[in-house]
Amino acid sequence: MESNDLHTLYQKAILFAAKKHHAAGQTLPGTELPYLVHLSNVAMEILIAGSNTLDFDTNFAIQVALLHDTLEDTPTTSAELEQTFGNKVAIAVNALTKNGNLPKNEKMSDSLTRIRTQPKEVWAVKLADRITNLQKPPAHWDSVKRLKYKFEAQIILTALKGANAYLESRLAAKIIEYEQYI
Ligand code: NI
Repeated sequence: MESNDLHTLYQKAILFAAKKHHAAGQTLPGTELPYLVHLSNVAMEILIAGSNTLDFDTNFAIQVALLHDTLEDTPTTSAELEQTFGNKVAIAVNALTKNGNLPKNEKMSDSLTRIRTQPKEVWAVKLADRITNLQKPPAHWDSVKRLKYKFEAQIILTALKGANAYLESRLAAKIIEYEQYI
């Protein structure tokens, strides 16, 4: 019988995500590094948050963290996620996926609305994702784009208030740190 301990779940999800993002030819934006670097960073934020949070389902959250971009960035389907990782994980990854049919300026708020219907671990993955992404922006980003990115991070932090105290304070600090790039 397959064991469902954290290591097993982690290995299964990271291998699945690695194969999918690799097959899609996706790299860490602006680099030639594997996209897996981003997913590992998000997973690490979640592991640390889990050890700093009461009643946190790390087994669930770690799978969602590793798989969070598979629907948005690779040809993975919801059915495939459901079959491989179960219904709860598939629904969570769906909530974290922007609806490509919506106008650009509605995609974020629509996703945040769907995330807010999910368990707090899913909110936490969204915070961890933005914490990870708030790094030195690519040189070609102009100040408008940088400001917009910071503003968006603030919207995420506000919309997901109450998600996870540890990650909320991490994101708040990252937003302040990001000001040096504007
Ligand atoms: Ni991401």
